[in-house]
Amino acid sequence: MKKLCLLGLFVSLASHTVLAATTPAPIENKDAFISNLMKQMTLDEKIGQLRLISIGPEMPREMIRKEIAAGNIGGTFNSITRSENRPMQDAAMRSRLKIPMFFAYDVIHGHRTIFPIPLALASSWDMDAIGRSGRIAAQEAAADSLDITFAPMVDISRDPRWGRTSEGFGEDTYLVSRIAGVMVKAFQGTGANAADSIMASVKHFALYGAVEGGRDYNVVDMSPVKMYQDYLPPYRAAIDAGAGGVMVALNSINGVPATANTWLMNDLLRKEWGFKGLAVSDHGAIFELIKHGVARDGREAAKLAIKAGIDMSMNDTLYGKELPGLLKAGEIEQKDIDNAVREVLAAKYDMGLFKDPYLRIGKAEDDPADTYAESRLHRAEARDVARRSLVLLKNQGDTLPLKKTAKIALVGPLAKAPIDMMGSWAAAGRPAQSVTLFDGMTHALGAQSTLIYARGANITDDKKILDYLNFLNFDAPEVVDDPRPANVLIDEAVKAAKDADVVVAAVGESRGMSHESSSRTDLNIPGNQRELIRALKATGKPLVLVLMNGRPLSILEEKEQADAILETWFSGTEGGNAIADVLFGDYNPSGKLPITVPRSVGQIPTYYNHLSIGRPFTPGKPGNYTSQYFEDTTGPLFPFGYGLSYTQFSLTDMALSSTTLNKTGKLDASVVVKNTGKRDGETVVQLYIQDVTGSMIRPVKELKNFQKVLLKAGEQKVVHFTITEDDLKFYNAQLKYAAEPGKFNVEIGLDSQDVTQQSFELL
Ligand code: BGC
Repeated sequence: MKKLCLLGLFVSLASHTVLAATTPAPIENKDAFISNLMKQMTLDEKIGQLRLISIGPEMPREMIRKEIAAGNIGGTFNSITRSENRPMQDAAMRSRLKIPMFFAYDVIHGHRTIFPIPLALASSWDMDAIGRSGRIAAQEAAADSLDITFAPMVDISRDPRWGRTSEGFGEDTYLVSRIAGVMVKAFQGTGANAADSIMASVKHFALYGAVEGGRDYNVVDMSPVKMYQDYLPPYRAAIDAGAGGVMVALNSINGVPATANTWLMNDLLRKEWGFKGLAVSDHGAIFELIKHGVARDGREAAKLAIKAGIDMSMNDTLYGKELPGLLKAGEIEQKDIDNAVREVLAAKYDMGLFKDPYLRIGKAEDDPADTYAESRLHRAEARDVARRSLVLLKNQGDTLPLKKTAKIALVGPLAKAPIDMMGSWAAAGRPAQSVTLFDGMTHALGAQSTLIYARGANITDDKKILDYLNFLNFDAPEVVDDPRPANVLIDEAVKAAKDADVVVAAVGESRGMSHESSSRTDLNIPGNQRELIRALKATGKPLVLVLMNGRPLSILEEKEQADAILETWFSGTEGGNAIADVLFGDYNPSGKLPITVPRSVGQIPTYYNHLSIGRPFTPGKPGNYTSQYFEDTTGPLFPFGYGLSYTQFSLTDMALSSTTLNKTGKLDASVVVKNTGKRDGETVVQLYIQDVTGSMIRPVKELKNFQKVLLKAGEQKVVHFTITEDDLKFYNAQLKYAAEPGKFNVEIGLDSQDVTQQSFELL
């Protein structure tokens, strides 16, 4: 879905004296090995290592290989097969110093097998399943000769207007941080140098999710306390888990673009956090410093970026063009370039490429005969992870699960939508291999299937939106319209509904609506689809909405109309089978929202862990002179952490082991969770803590721990959480991370709103 360009390919470097080879250092000694190599490198060769270029289908392969053999390119992205990357590595092996290339790609939620989008993965609250998805993605990508991914994307998103909400793990600092660590470990496996691992480069550093108004690429203006407390921890968690790389964000932070931000890249990332890995700019970001208005021209942009500590420049020519002149003029120092080169070489070393440049490329005779072969996919694993990520939002009168003997009408523009099922950033996933909802339900019903299908509506009737969504698709439009008039489509769906016992409507967004550069002003299901839902409701038949979308949608009206609602996000290659598993009760849903669903776009932001205020709204009391909007109900449509099951769970007997906690002590918070229904099922027990009085205002509650528990029908378990002083620490006005003595409320619930509470005192 991305426009690939030639920018960044052709650069002619001034020739410099070729240095004589020195005695090689043993490869086991990383620092000595790299220092020795650097001593032999010319300036051109050094600058060449800082170039990361995108390989588009239109690019002249021979020219690229020449550039590589001349030592002018350090790595590529978007070339994703062994046969494509081998000749480039061969070219690197023909270069004077034989420095290997690395091959990168956006492996975000799967590679060949597409797993649910990250927001959906987060909905599983299942670290084991999330880890499995990352490990398989790494194995598949490594088997296709890839060395590094630009993931995980751990930008906290609290404004669902932002299209990239789909690509992150939601609004909560604790949950996203946990997942960040899990994903890094999954990608890197036993080490980034393993043949079946890829290096993780966490993105987008930093605060990209907080762009103003949810408008992509916009500015971020944020207090240091909020940064440290809420937005930075997930990046830190990824780095602490060993992420070898960082991709730098496109946005500015408090007036300075991240790409030119020495505080961010140097003081915070490298000095304070001790990051030793590779910092890559985002696509064209160095050039964009001119547009941001902090650089007069390319020369100044290159200077700002290299000074800030941007090691590799993604797809622009500025380092190659400008660094030699800047060095000559004394505007940058040799060490600015050397530091960057050292990071690039160290990353290649850590990927295992100096020991074996063909570690992931392998031998030609072992190349898969068909890169798209079914045997290369991990369907069973994808189905299992996908069904864990589905969130049941409503189930009035036990409409779900559906009986396989029922006559079902399946309608909606997303019922047969293989591309959308994969979600955005679907790496090497192929639409032809993704299971649509129609396919999934048909398989589940088998020979007895009486499924009646009608499209019912297009994704949108707005031609302008359609054109926007198809803008980047060169070969074929991604969103294809049924040319029949809207009323004809609806009539057909209504007829199908009338002939059926129950209606399943697959509605929501196309995947491109929740993508990079897909910010929205409204969070509704597109109007024409809403017309369809109204018409279906009018038939009086039980109505099940299967939502597909990459951000929370404000489904106020639909919540009333539907008998059951299943939030499926975009659930990947096996999405259709996974959704059918839940619809027919072959799997009992267990997902929980990792992001609040607002009632309307005007309510944003609606994140649950907001700060305390002086005039809070109290439910049940008049709203006058309190903080709320007077024309609508206060509070979310569905709270953070919410999600139903086909069984019921109760929480009772919450207990704290003590009413006080010493700074060095431990407190046990426990609760009895019981499956009071008739089916086995899983739920997520969530622990929230509120620091009641502090030197600064504190959030009304914060997630501090959770456990996903499986209980047989009638079974109960005591769930224990340990609370220590660490769980109570926060960044104060001086950015000191410490806990303050005083009262703390502990809440346990199956979502963030419906909780039981106890208190203790930190001494
Ligand atoms: C995105 C990055 C991505 C890069 C390379 C950019 O437009 O912001 O997230 O890694 O493209 O595809």
